[in-house]
Amino acid sequence: MAKITDFLSGCSKNLAILGTQWGDEGKGKLIDAFSNHFELVCRSTGGANAGHTIVVDDKKYVFHLMPSCLLHPNTEAIIGNGTVINLTDLVTEVEKLEATGIKNIQSRIKISLHAHLLFEYHKQVDAELENRKGDNKIGTTCRGIGPCYGDKINRMGLRVEDLLDEENFRERIIANAQFHEKNLDITIDIEKEIESVMIAKEKLKELFCDTRLYLSQARKEGRKILYEGAQAHHLDIDHGTYPYVTSSNVSAGGICTGLGVPPKAIEEIIGIAKAYTTRVGEGPFPTELEDELGDQIRAQGHEYGATTGRPRRCGWFDAVVVRNAVEFNGIDSLNLTKLDVLTGVTELKIATEYWLDDTRIYNVPTTQKANDKLSIKYETLPGWAEDISNVRDFSELPLNAQKYVTRIEELSGCPVSSIGVGADRQALIFR
Ligand code: GDP
Ligand code: IMO
Ligand code: MG
Repeated sequence: MAKITDFLSGCSKNLAILGTQWGDEGKGKLIDAFSNHFELVCRSTGGANAGHTIVVDDKKYVFHLMPSCLLHPNTEAIIGNGTVINLTDLVTEVEKLEATGIKNIQSRIKISLHAHLLFEYHKQVDAELENRKGDNKIGTTCRGIGPCYGDKINRMGLRVEDLLDEENFRERIIANAQFHEKNLDITIDIEKEIESVMIAKEKLKELFCDTRLYLSQARKEGRKILYEGAQAHHLDIDHGTYPYVTSSNVSAGGICTGLGVPPKAIEEIIGIAKAYTTRVGEGPFPTELEDELGDQIRAQGHEYGATTGRPRRCGWFDAVVVRNAVEFNGIDSLNLTKLDVLTGVTELKIATEYWLDDTRIYNVPTTQKANDKLSIKYETLPGWAEDISNVRDFSELPLNAQKYVTRIEELSGCPVSSIGVGADRQALIFR
């Protein structure tokens, strides 16, 4: 991994990694590849809706709420105040990771006292709301994310610190559950919920801390910090294709609010972009391929959700989408992933411009009506047939693959600093 060391020695201290499309770009792989060079890796937003996959010597690990750094025995993990946590699921995730042989996990995790607690009934509410939306459903992961953040915004949620006063916790969780029962006419087994939360609390309580203070001290000591993005810019509650988004700020700003670090704490941002586009769940997807080619890319790229197993929708690389993420997040360079998956596709298209009537637009339209009218300008480039999975040097890529990457750089307005050519942690080209 000498190339990573060279690459990171040119990198500033504190780095953020963010998704630039609709998630599943391959964030987990780069975070794992970099984690050995950082002392702390922090999740700031989202919950177990994320599924971050790491492959090492054919062994696959999937991280949901746990930061994707834990395979490296000396790196610490922070789960920040902006996340939503189902403690029982978190215990299961830790136990599963321990069962794979990862050592010393519990002593390396800190969980924010100010993170919101996500209960089983939030999942029930999520499913019920989706049902009621019928054809307008969001296609959520059904992990209870929206309802838990809803309670947070409505100032009726419970936080990790509330577990420390059991009597008060009991009163408040019952009131919260009763609100949802009444609101949606559902039945919640609240005693069962309290019991399982308390069991999980006993297992995790040593990990609870004010992670803001911990990070502040770490920053004073000059410890190296990696901020792990979940989801992606176009799933952001403010900047994404609302309402087909997740329920938190998963773009750069969410790192500051979700961890209590100042904007200056993020010294460099790497955006992760897949060499084509995928999306799970409903919502606009201008370059979607609803044909055999889309099926071929899904099969070649194993495009099935790491959290829900759902088939991912596949389509062409969309430079409007990625440029938008680059601009609004201040992304310094891109990690272009899954270039190997495009091997054998004879002609590759890139969306370069969007037009609505006679007006050029710079955002993905959010309404179905506008999307139906959207006209997309494409550029076509020749593909390549050679297997590139063992290439580790940019100059050794087929010329057409090099041209494809260069054109993506030009159209996205951002240099491509690394390229993924396989799922394994080693399958990276640094430039
Ligand atoms: P994340 O949510 O952004 O971490 O991405 P996911 O783990 O949900 O999905 C990305 C999938 O692509 C995972 O199965 C990874 O193992 C795989 N992957 C990541 N980078 C590459 C790559 O460069 N080439 C190939 N073939 N697979 C990759
Ligand atoms: P990672 O971190 C891809 C999508 C869901 C749905 C919408 C709302 O692995 O990239 P939610 O359950 O959050 O209320 O669902 O957001 N979604 C993701 N899609 N990758 C993810 O995470 C996602 N997290 C949420 O499919 O469309
Ligand atoms: Mg994922």
